[in-house]
Amino acid sequence: MKALVLSGGSGTRLRPFSYSMPKQLIPIANKPVLEHVLEDIRNLGVTEIGVIVGGWAAQIAEVIGDGSRLGVKVTYIPQDKPLGLAHCVTLARPFLGDDDFVMYLGDNMLPEGTAHIADEFRAGRPAAQVVVHKVSDPRAFGVAELDENGRVERLVEKPREPKSDLALIGVYFFTPAIHTAVAAIEPSARGELEITDAIQWLLTSGAEVKASEYHGYWKDTGRAEDVLDCNRQLLMSLRPEIAGEVDEASELNGLVRIEPGARVIRTRIEGPVIIGAGTVVEDCHIGPDTSIGDGCTLRGSRIRDSIVLAGATISHVPGIHGSLIGRGATVDAGVETDPYHRLVVGDHTRIEVAA
Ligand code: G1P
Repeated sequence: MKALVLSGGSGTRLRPFSYSMPKQLIPIANKPVLEHVLEDIRNLGVTEIGVIVGGWAAQIAEVIGDGSRLGVKVTYIPQDKPLGLAHCVTLARPFLGDDDFVMYLGDNMLPEGTAHIADEFRAGRPAAQVVVHKVSDPRAFGVAELDENGRVERLVEKPREPKSDLALIGVYFFTPAIHTAVAAIEPSARGELEITDAIQWLLTSGAEVKASEYHGYWKDTGRAEDVLDCNRQLLMSLRPEIAGEVDEASELNGLVRIEPGARVIRTRIEGPVIIGAGTVVEDCHIGPDTSIGDGCTLRGSRIRDSIVLAGATISHVPGIHGSLIGRGATVDAGVETDPYHRLVVGDHTRIEVAA
């Protein structure tokens, strides 16, 4: 079995980050979403992975490389325009050949893994096996309608009136039968070749389509809130380790990971917290639920429930929470007597200040 990862999307819901980086490289527990995805695929016993990339191809290749660091072999497949998930399958045909494959959306996180579903697919080889999850508002997703025996009866992309609460959550297993289906469908109302329509085409033509429910934590990391939520979730199973330096005046509680070369001085850390390599933290109170990237500097600040990306500086800010702070960004307290805020705010940035 091979794998196809779709990483071409632009991520407009993650602006301003998506102006300077692909959403698939946003770090969760200090590891890019795409790296989590590739590791999940490796855990299915699949190592030959095609990655569909759009305008951010170079940045993605710089981080992921040929995949050998992660124990996989990555082949990049360029996509000029986002013409839909089924269009990606067409582009990947030369890479996929006539092999079975798992298709994985590069911004979807299923940390509990789908190994049991992969095994089921390998054993039964239905034309398609989709992964579904109960959601409260299925209208934003592809929706699967099942009969009383759990067989898929119908799949609908973003139905206005959903007949089921089972959403397709970005992982699909296919035999080569999908290629005929993808060639047969027409673009949807949003002008895209929908994979949901291709799978529905298989159903209509009498092929076997199965659905397996994933009961674990799932997140489409499309918005800042989702990224923070997912960060909280992943930090719960953080592997604690102190590889950096922590001075005697600091206090560490709970799951804490300090990467090599990081220095923690006169600081209280309430896990789960991860501090990236080479980061300096001085006179701070950090956590819980916080990931600080590599090469950051934090002084005299209090921060919890947040993600700070590499190279950011935070000085003398007494209360940061629920925040996502970009690479090389600076957040500081300014002059104490000045009642005004001085801001250099990028396009589509969101800031909330205390009144
Ligand atoms: C896509 C699929 C949809 C699926 C969703 C999962 O939607 O078309 O069927 O439920 O991913 O994240 P999109 O993100 O393209 O709107």
